[in-house]
Amino acid sequence: MSINNNSEFKPKIVAFCCNWCSYAGADLAGSSRLTYPADVKIIRVPCSCRVNPMFILRAFEKGADGVILCGCHPGDCHYTSGNFYARRRMTLLFSMLDYIGVENGRTRVEWVSAAEGVKFSATMNSFVEKIYSLGKNVRLEDLRCKN
Ligand code: FES
Repeated sequence: MSINNNSEFKPKIVAFCCNWCSYAGADLAGSSRLTYPADVKIIRVPCSCRVNPMFILRAFEKGADGVILCGCHPGDCHYTSGNFYARRRMTLLFSMLDYIGVENGRTRVEWVSAAEGVKFSATMNSFVEKIYSLGKNVRLEDLRCKN
């Protein structure tokens, strides 16, 4: 994989992964020796619906260049319908992000099951590639508190 066009740029990418499917998919990717860039920092959550939209905004405020939310496939959520709530929330949030300075493409929702290590790896590779193509998230910089 050759995604690093700009050697100076090291993106910060946050991946919220639900414990029951996507995190297990990441685990499977690892144990299957599939690769994805180390730029992706995984945060394990009990369910995709645990991710409050404020978590996404906070990640961008703290300097993330991209945020991805991964959960169980629709209908497979271990809490019955958590991912349906997550999907609605993220659809609404993502529609407003461009307005506040986060371009489309810096966020994504993907459903990855525990058996989909290949999909997890491919998803992370394509997402990181997209973030490299967008470059550093500078549009929000004015809003960030600087020390
Ligand atoms: Fe995975 Fe709800 S437990 S999305």
